[in-house]
Amino acid sequence: MSAPTANVAQPESFAFTPENLAEAKKIIARYPPGRQASAVMPLLDIAQRQHDNWLPRAAMDHVAGLLEMPRIRVYEVASFYTMYNLAPVGKYFLQVCTTTPCWLRKSGDIVEAVKAHLGIGIGETTADGLFTLIEVECLGACVNAPMIQVNDDYYEDLTPDSVVEILKALANGERPQAGPQNGRRSSEPEGGPTTLTAFME
Ligand code: FES
Repeated sequence: MSAPTANVAQPESFAFTPENLAEAKKIIARYPPGRQASAVMPLLDIAQRQHDNWLPRAAMDHVAGLLEMPRIRVYEVASFYTMYNLAPVGKYFLQVCTTTPCWLRKSGDIVEAVKAHLGIGIGETTADGLFTLIEVECLGACVNAPMIQVNDDYYEDLTPDSVVEILKALANGERPQAGPQNGRRSSEPEGGPTTLTAFME
């Protein structure tokens, strides 16, 4: 579920910064003439990053103009994918995965811990504007379930306690170490290697 879109105050205009425009042109040049619409997703991503992690209508229109696409086709893309926010979000955008592997590893407890600690529900933002919480489908880190994405970082192998510690650190302006939170490296077996151990001595 994306962030809510109703009653959003929209800025009058949007334009890429010179740096972002140069980057956008580089991306557009990857595609053959007439196929520049293929660049719509990376350009929307650049626009969102430029605009506090959400896409106002003016930004989508700007992208449509650059790609010579009907605006409605850009709106369709931006409203389909949860990676695009069509309304303002908090400084920290929390995406909790609750698809089956994470759910089997108790992602429901992670959701409840985040909601209780921040005092917000799914699709809501804290009053201080720091955190927005949404629920998403599989983020591709099932081997480290349960997990949560915070802006560009994945925090994995979570417990209700460890996710709250992460939220506290973020609120203090820290950037906790991303990745597994249970001490294991990457997705190696919990408790250490279980195969080819004879070769490790
Ligand atoms: S099910 Fe949660 S990352 Fe895949």
